[in-house]
Amino acid sequence: MAQRHRGRKPVLLLRVQAHPIRTVSIPTSRIVLVRTDLRVDFYTWTRDSALTFKYLISAYTNGNSSLNTLIEDYILAQGRVQVIKSPSGDFSTGGLGEPKFYVNETAFEGDWGRPQHDGPALRASTMIAYSNSLLSSGKNATVRDIIWPLISNDLNYVTQNWNHTGFDLWEEVNGSSIFTTAMQYRALVEGSALAQKLNESCENCDSQSPQVLCFLQNSYWNFNHSIANINLAQDNGRGGLDCAAILTANHLFDAEATCDVDGYQPCQGRALANHKAVVDSMRGIYTINTADDSDAKTPGKPVAIGRYAEDVYYDGNPWFLCTSAAAEQLYKAIYQWSSSGSVVVDDVSKAFFQDLVHDISAGTWDKSTNQFTQITNAAKIYADGFANIVKKHAGTNGSIAEQISRENGTMVSASDLTWSYAAFLTMADARAGGKVLDQETWGWDAVKVPDSCKASSATGDTTTPNPTQFPDGQGSSENGTSGSAAGTPTPTGGDGSKPTGKSGATAVTVTTMPLLACLALAVLCSGAL
Ligand code: NOJ
Repeated sequence: MAQRHRGRKPVLLLRVQAHPIRTVSIPTSRIVLVRTDLRVDFYTWTRDSALTFKYLISAYTNGNSSLNTLIEDYILAQGRVQVIKSPSGDFSTGGLGEPKFYVNETAFEGDWGRPQHDGPALRASTMIAYSNSLLSSGKNATVRDIIWPLISNDLNYVTQNWNHTGFDLWEEVNGSSIFTTAMQYRALVEGSALAQKLNESCENCDSQSPQVLCFLQNSYWNFNHSIANINLAQDNGRGGLDCAAILTANHLFDAEATCDVDGYQPCQGRALANHKAVVDSMRGIYTINTADDSDAKTPGKPVAIGRYAEDVYYDGNPWFLCTSAAAEQLYKAIYQWSSSGSVVVDDVSKAFFQDLVHDISAGTWDKSTNQFTQITNAAKIYADGFANIVKKHAGTNGSIAEQISRENGTMVSASDLTWSYAAFLTMADARAGGKVLDQETWGWDAVKVPDSCKASSATGDTTTPNPTQFPDGQGSSENGTSGSAAGTPTPTGGDGSKPTGKSGATAVTVTTMPLLACLALAVLCSGAL
């Protein structure tokens, strides 16, 4: 099995809509150089950056005030990144959809799966989280003058483009992605709420968010599980089961949400049925799953999880971030069952629950019942099983790569992937529950699905960003001047090495990677898992 694709270039055939049909190969430098450890694969992805800083901002708001400068640097860097002219366009012609840049804030000009529409949405949500934290300490002017213009640009990109196809989070499939649509919905809801707090408005957020919600609710469900990619430019030969939908539930989590049909919350029936279907699709395909546990093929047993079963990238392995995500959805569901006081087992989710408690029947199981206790206990054991798989394959120094070898469990592909750390750390937070999750609320039900839904878009005004400094004097004003400038610290091969052929490499990369590894190590060694 290990030799299946080794020695061959994992060329992915992609069709790029809105351009003449062409094939794009993922640059071989990525593959070869990561394999030979030269680590030239060193970029900042808007998505990975936003998800990493989403975690760091949560850590900041929960007491780690030392992260403030890093967060400010991230935001200032995004102001510069927003105006980089790239193959996706310039600031006003689609450049915000460019997925990745060199970390010295220059454009990557090579072939890639672009545009990717989730980046601006995720970045808006991340900057909104920090803005809300500043507002709670009265720093309204800072938010209004420095951060809101950047957020507003991203929101405008979302309202303009949500109904256009683009490449998904895995950068391979051109179409509509459940993850992208969900993140767009969340950003518009949060954007509208922040605008109101600032005495501003986001009318386009308000006009588009019901339509995005409608699309999210009605388009991706096949009555058994979610189909992660739809409206494909080209048949991708996949069944649609994808870790992307598990990530979707996790990133839509709202502590105040209920588990009923609207919203794709971690505890919602569709999201649980999908969890089962995705996990079951990967039980038998990786050698390590059955080698680690001869019962791994039995539903309800935790296993290492990849992006999607048909994956061939780097031989198609389990991914750390997907295995963490499988645990995180369950921890978040347990939180929601506990806070709402009941577990609802319906026809859609019954098979998921029967993997945990074999004789459970459909019904609403109140906190006082044995069934509630049985379900929540079993779900916790199941979730811990996924978390332990991550723990088992992570480095003893806390390092977490992109993938886990399907054959022998060693770390493979990009080392020290920031998103792997972020996914691990948010999973650990979800496991701990309590205050961190209590605070995760973003207005999941602020919008209702309209009676009639339509394809739409709205274009608003944008402001060319020019943020230079936060008022406290922290944060960098120019590339490389304060020791923490440039791009966002989310290189794939994150060993702190400099990107080749570029000047002004950022020091954020060398400070953030050890920070993340350190935070992960603290969790791994604390006995908390
Ligand atoms: C490849 C992943 O598929 C994509 O989601 C991610 O953004 C990049 N690697 C960088 O980590």
